[in-house]
Amino acid sequence: MKRKNIISFTAAIVCMFSLASCGSVKTVPDGDGKPIVTNNSSEASTEEQSSSSESQEASTTSTSDEQSDTSTTTSTVTTNDKTYIANGNTGSSNKDDNNNNSNGDNSNGDNENSQNSSKKITLSYYEAEIAVGETKMYPLVSETITEVWTSSDTSVATVDTAGNITGTGEGNCIITVANAHDASQKAQVKVTVKKSSSDMTFMGGILIVNKSYSLPRSYNPGGLTAETSAAFYQLSQDAAAANLNIYLSSGFRSYEYQEQIYNNNVYYYGQAATDTFSARPGHSEHQTGMAIDVNTIDDSFAGTSEAIWLEEHCYDYGFIIRYPKGKQWITGYKYEPWHIRYIGKENALKFKNAAAAVGDRYYTLEEYFGIDSYYH
Ligand code: DAL
Ligand code: ZN
Repeated sequence: MKRKNIISFTAAIVCMFSLASCGSVKTVPDGDGKPIVTNNSSEASTEEQSSSSESQEASTTSTSDEQSDTSTTTSTVTTNDKTYIANGNTGSSNKDDNNNNSNGDNSNGDNENSQNSSKKITLSYYEAEIAVGETKMYPLVSETITEVWTSSDTSVATVDTAGNITGTGEGNCIITVANAHDASQKAQVKVTVKKSSSDMTFMGGILIVNKSYSLPRSYNPGGLTAETSAAFYQLSQDAAAANLNIYLSSGFRSYEYQEQIYNNNVYYYGQAATDTFSARPGHSEHQTGMAIDVNTIDDSFAGTSEAIWLEEHCYDYGFIIRYPKGKQWITGYKYEPWHIRYIGKENALKFKNAAAAVGDRYYTLEEYFGIDSYYH
């Protein structure tokens, strides 16, 4: 049995609520990577490193601005991963799992399991609120059983074999995960699907943000998403094992903070130049909580060992190089080897394969989905 991180249910709900409250547009359901280990302290520490470097992307951003943004981000980081394990036979571990199951999930069909705790599957949360078209990326942690995921009502939400849940219609349903070899081992997630709105766009379950597709001012996940944070933590750990230092310099940026950055850049460089490297408020991927700028955030990063490693390995962790070299006319932005976007491992693999199929190394969201990126 392998236990991963324990999740703050309250924080998870805050994150889910903020996601769901903004809604989405139609999407094609798709998957996400696994497994994921969230490490709160790692995000806090890496975020704290961001101050000086971030200001380089926002060339005129003051350090104090950055620090205030960082403190907000760090204090509201969510950890809505799930722990997903099949209990073993020891009484002590069962008790531990019950204690960790502090999410108020007793009403979610686990009574049977709690009466027979040796057959209990423990999730880190048992309720999810998503929008129609949105895919809730569920990291799988279990390495001990073969999971079977089912939905009680696919007109409300579907679930794929990896546990990724996609809202298909307004309403409530139950998503169940069971052991393929013992159906009595199961756990359930109560899913509420809210109406989508037209101010956010999902494609293949991926939130799309570029010059053509924006986020509302109110969209604020409160920091990097748990999946993004965990994936980056693993990436940086593995890079360190290869004697490379890849650290977070800028993560989540609120609409208001991006507004400051953009306005400062316009003041110093003019709008035309600024629009080649800095997103207008509402148009920055950093507002999604799924984009990260690493290391120095300037051209000196290109060609470094870290940049080369990142380009080669980011897919493995669910990231893409979002603004590849030579694709400014597609993405709307100059080459940014430091800006990575989390889209989940399965999606990242699809992007990698799609690029390889056309003899390229990178595939952008614009190319994959056939969309444009310009200010309308
Ligand atoms: N530098 C990227 C485009 C941003 O400002 O989000
Ligand atoms: Zn960036």
